[in-house]
Amino acid sequence: MKYKACLFDLDGVLVDTAIYHFQAWKNLGKQFGYELTVEQNEQLKGVSRVESLNKILAWANYSATHEQKAAWLTEKNEEYLRLISNMNPSEILPGVLEFLQQIKDLGYKIALGSASKNAEIILEKTGLLPWFDLIIDGNKVSKSKPDPEVFLKGAEGLGLAPDACIVFEDAQAGVEAAKAGNMKAVGIGEALTLSLADKIIPNFVGVKAVELLQF
Ligand code: BG6
Ligand code: MG
Repeated sequence: MKYKACLFDLDGVLVDTAIYHFQAWKNLGKQFGYELTVEQNEQLKGVSRVESLNKILAWANYSATHEQKAAWLTEKNEEYLRLISNMNPSEILPGVLEFLQQIKDLGYKIALGSASKNAEIILEKTGLLPWFDLIIDGNKVSKSKPDPEVFLKGAEGLGLAPDACIVFEDAQAGVEAAKAGNMKAVGIGEALTLSLADKIIPNFVGVKAVELLQF
């Protein structure tokens, strides 16, 4: 088997938290009279909390003080934590559990490569935690996707070469990170936004791992 591990992004790939991030940023933007669009939100996917705020402030042409930014980051995360507080296994995206079972049976290692500092809480609440051999999240990296750091640390932690890894991503920045790390990338979502991916699927429903993981 040429490929030995599957590295998964979390938000928007395994669980539908992308909608909660969007909601929390949208509400925050309203405080400085800014209405975040769906297209702009696409560019925030996979991007760290701090960098997301910086992007929104730049779009809004708003120069905030350091203190203001720190307060808004806390506020955004508090709202996000409220939104995810009742998450449960029903919020695992369709087909994900079946796909994880297939790759486990095929002998692939399974790791998380997420920008989120809240990843472990979400994995716990949804019952996904036991599937993972390794978790690299926003607390363990210093560079945000599209930098490949999160996935390279994943490969290293599993004791594998980057080119033995396959990344699953819903974000443009995440697919770029995988490619920059010399890994295969499977895009989950729309071909238009994920054109750099080696393969693109709309979701995991009915996906046959043996077929998908042929490159
Ligand atoms: C990524 C999300 O997974 O995590 C981004 O796609 C988010 O939208 C980033 O900004 C950081 O998440 P958190 O939970 O640390 O604010
Ligand atoms: Mg994502």
